[in-house]
Amino acid sequence: MSTTDQDLNQHLASGDRGTPQRTSATVPSALRMMLALEDFEEPARRYIPKPIYGYVSGGVERNKTLDWNRSAFDDLALVPRMLINVSQRAQKTSLFGQSYDAPFGIAPMGGTSLASFEGDLVLARAGAAENVPMILSGASLTPLEKVRAAGGRTTWFQAYLPGDTQAITELVERVAQAGYDTLVLTVDIPVGANRENNVRNGYTSPLRPTPRLAWNCLMRPRWLVGTALRTYFSKGMPHFENMGKRTPLVSRTAVRERAQRDHLNWKHVALMRRLWKGTLIVKGILDKADVPFARDNGVDGIIVSNHGGRQLDSATAPLRVLPGIAAAAGDMTIMMDSGIRRGTDVLKALALGAKFVFVGRPMLYAAAVAGETGVRHAIKLLRDEIDRDMALVGINKLNEMHSDRLMDARGFDGVTLTKSSA
Ligand code: GLV
Repeated sequence: MSTTDQDLNQHLASGDRGTPQRTSATVPSALRMMLALEDFEEPARRYIPKPIYGYVSGGVERNKTLDWNRSAFDDLALVPRMLINVSQRAQKTSLFGQSYDAPFGIAPMGGTSLASFEGDLVLARAGAAENVPMILSGASLTPLEKVRAAGGRTTWFQAYLPGDTQAITELVERVAQAGYDTLVLTVDIPVGANRENNVRNGYTSPLRPTPRLAWNCLMRPRWLVGTALRTYFSKGMPHFENMGKRTPLVSRTAVRERAQRDHLNWKHVALMRRLWKGTLIVKGILDKADVPFARDNGVDGIIVSNHGGRQLDSATAPLRVLPGIAAAAGDMTIMMDSGIRRGTDVLKALALGAKFVFVGRPMLYAAAVAGETGVRHAIKLLRDEIDRDMALVGINKLNEMHSDRLMDARGFDGVTLTKSSA
């Protein structure tokens, strides 16, 4: 084992959950300046070819929703309480009968194995090693059976499905056969989003082999050797494995199967409920009016999400609708994604009614920058932030995080200003 490997393992094993530290002695040099989730973005941009990075990082149309996902968190301030004994802090969270080491997991992302070698397996292994859930995307390039075998219990599967009984039945049976116990249905994709950024950056799916694409790949030699050629020579041409018919990643003519997604409706959720014995989650709900439909159809949990700002531009930020959805949820579990970057974001989401949150792009960037070690480091960073923030806010348990710890970041307690500055 090289010194670097020893450093990495020692660093990851030193996850003393109670006392987060950032001593440079224990952090391997490749990750030493990765101090927060957002730090992975720039090195990932320099590693991944422009069209692929554009696809991963981009939103849709004017990126309003992408921006709002962040600004919603910034509109909330935390109001800490003092002189509370916070020495008993714990963030282990029980979810659907399983215990996880943090209140967050890894959101589904189809581009993971495009951006890093064996990206889907890397995320699954990191999730398992850190005991947080990792959701494999239906738009991924690794057969779902392989990913579950690599990640085990902490690995969930997220499906993109058409409104078609046969396709739904086949996929649910396949997912069950592979041993998954949690199935997530994404519902905010009745049609493809207007991803102008993909057109501008030359990204298509499947990738069309063009001189522009070749040039962009040549401009990223570390990715070309470390991800693209390594993948090709070890496994051959990657295919979209988990969504309709197998389709190659690179092709002049192939077309991915996306028909009849606009037919999907609650009757199909009811069908899935009848077929699927495990935990059933619907991802992409933004209106509390949809919550009773989920409950009546036997859904176990909802992920409040706008798909990371990648579907409907001007769709609201999940954080803003969380309280209403949580109030309507009854005994259904409410989770959220879209915009989480900091421990304080996690605490704010929990205060507004989420039981659990998911983090997307930063985990993919961490995989691109340093593989499984990078993702485990990213998980550790966020877990350490949560621990520190719990102490500073004045709580020992995550369920002590209520909306009374929040205020309008631009408000003044007890004062309504009546004079204008004019
Ligand atoms: C896939 O889920 C995507 O947002 O591109």
